[in-house]
Amino acid sequence: MNTPYKSIVVLTGAGISAESGIQTFRAADGLWENHRIEDIATPEGFQKNPVAVHDFYNQRRRHLLQTEIKPNSAHSALAKLEHELESYPDTRYLLVTQNIDNLHERAGSKKLIHMHGELLKMRCCVTGLIFEIQQDLTLEQCCRCCRQPGNLRPHVVWFGEMPLGMHEIEQSLMSCDLFVAIGTSGNVYPAAGFNQTARHYGAHTLELNLESTGSTFDEHRYGRASETTPSLITEILRNLSQIQAFNDNYR
Ligand code: APR
Repeated sequence: MNTPYKSIVVLTGAGISAESGIQTFRAADGLWENHRIEDIATPEGFQKNPVAVHDFYNQRRRHLLQTEIKPNSAHSALAKLEHELESYPDTRYLLVTQNIDNLHERAGSKKLIHMHGELLKMRCCVTGLIFEIQQDLTLEQCCRCCRQPGNLRPHVVWFGEMPLGMHEIEQSLMSCDLFVAIGTSGNVYPAAGFNQTARHYGAHTLELNLESTGSTFDEHRYGRASETTPSLITEILRNLSQIQAFNDNYR
């Protein structure tokens, strides 16, 4: 990879947070091994048994808020890329995550879209207003808008619901020249189709994963995200600074 990229889109999945101690979904010990998606990650499941759904997300929220759960070097590398690219005003960057943890923000990422929502937010089903939450969410909790119990749900996108930020994501995919997918199995659309969209519009597509996901990318790098991501970011920034130096010398 020796091209200075002008517009970079990065998609992350559960694999980028695995080394921080957060369970992925489809590994042998994954979240979907012990829970039925239709029971706890669909609007119908919430309708049928809201207590079970609140319990599922309350457990994950408590785990995320434990002191030992921290961003790893992959999250930090992406935050560094975003920060360094501020010195290259004609380079665009967007980080899209399928994850509902807050590790990208805690590492310093700002140009970030949580397309599947956020574990530390809740939403009123009546008004659509969104509130921060750092403790358990229960049926007894009152929202600040309606001031009555039972209207609050996790601000998480369930199966069958429209992911968030799709317009901005699609615009970025159609104009990027580098698309990188980190730690995602490519099982869930629309995220699983982002590489094809980017490729269709001419981007170089790169997959960082522990193993082959069988998805079509121009390039695959296998290994732990905490290692492959920092080395990729170093490479991207080195290419950019070399081109910048060349342009400065020959202006
Ligand atoms: N480094 C790199 N990749 C890793 C690591 C690691 N340390 N650990 C796991 N992976 C990879 C796995 O090989 C797998 O391909 O991360 C991927 C995790 O896949 P999933 O568990 O399916 O998670 P994800 O792709 O994010 O799921 C997408 O599905 O259920 C929905 O809403 C949920 O956002 C989630 C979506």
